[in-house]
Amino acid sequence: MSNRKWNLSIVILFVIFACLMLSFLFSMLHIRELIQPLKSTDGSDSIPRHVVLISQELDNPYWRSIEEGARGAAQKYGMDLEYMGPFRINPDEQIKRLEKAIAAKADAVIIQGINDPHYRTLIDKATDQGIPVITIDTDEPGSQRLSYVGTDNLDAGKRMGELIVQSIHEQPLVEQVSIGVLIGNESADNQQLRLQGFRSVISQYDNLSIAEVKSSNISRLQAAEQAEYILLHHPEVSYMVGLSSLDGIGILEAVQRVPAHGKGINIFAFDDLAETKEAITQCQIVSTIVQQPNRMGYDAISLIHDFFQGKALQQQHFTAITVLDRRTSAVSEEVVYP
Ligand code: BGC
Repeated sequence: MSNRKWNLSIVILFVIFACLMLSFLFSMLHIRELIQPLKSTDGSDSIPRHVVLISQELDNPYWRSIEEGARGAAQKYGMDLEYMGPFRINPDEQIKRLEKAIAAKADAVIIQGINDPHYRTLIDKATDQGIPVITIDTDEPGSQRLSYVGTDNLDAGKRMGELIVQSIHEQPLVEQVSIGVLIGNESADNQQLRLQGFRSVISQYDNLSIAEVKSSNISRLQAAEQAEYILLHHPEVSYMVGLSSLDGIGILEAVQRVPAHGKGINIFAFDDLAETKEAITQCQIVSTIVQQPNRMGYDAISLIHDFFQGKALQQQHFTAITVLDRRTSAVSEEVVYP
């Protein structure tokens, strides 16, 4: 081959090589661009953790408040929160959704305890597979859940008992007092603990007695029906207590429906639904014990974050309760957490 041909071949080879190098460089830059959005906000090169939150009832205002708090923390820690739950209270559906979350290999799950052996087996299965499980609002004792976030329900029940005692002492010449009670759900551990705490205080007084305990099945309609039943069957009842968030307004509805029996009934509620607060302002409900569902959601996600940072978690993480009555009616509307 002549010298001229050699030189031409070398130039052509060099051009091909340069083109290949450039195309390789462009591909690398393109791949970097594609990977960038997958980086989490804390700067680590990982896909955002997928956390599943399963509620007792999807659109129940109390559970929406838990969701809101959880979303705030998920945004802060760069987690991807999936909120789900049955439209109406349905423990079987909660179980199925937990099964699916485990099968889908969620990074963590936040669930309400439902006091069910199969559910406990699933929680243990998730834990064995390295999926941290946090119970929220209601614990699932006997399971291997990582931690419980929510109210100290036994204590909250006692507090309710004390509110009744205090109110009776403020009234002149009350002799025997009969109390009707609504709980949200028969089997839920949180309701049973509240009832247990309540009974433990009431039983200390000879002049106080519980006429009947009925379940509202966390429905305002059923709360009104069950409260009406108690009022009609126990005309001696002068105090009515609701231990879950829709009970207070349900009781109020019943009291208004049966004025002959409902007259002068002292109503004590749980949680701070807008209608409950309004009824307190109107002196139709005496007071309510206010939980912090928003804080529960926020703290649950924060604990999951701590867990992934390798920190040890406490078995129970209690959120505080406050009492709202006419005198203290300015309970914080909007809470901003650190
Ligand atoms: C309870 C929740 C329940 C809600 C129902 C709250 O007081 O803590 O367990 O789901 O009421 O509205």
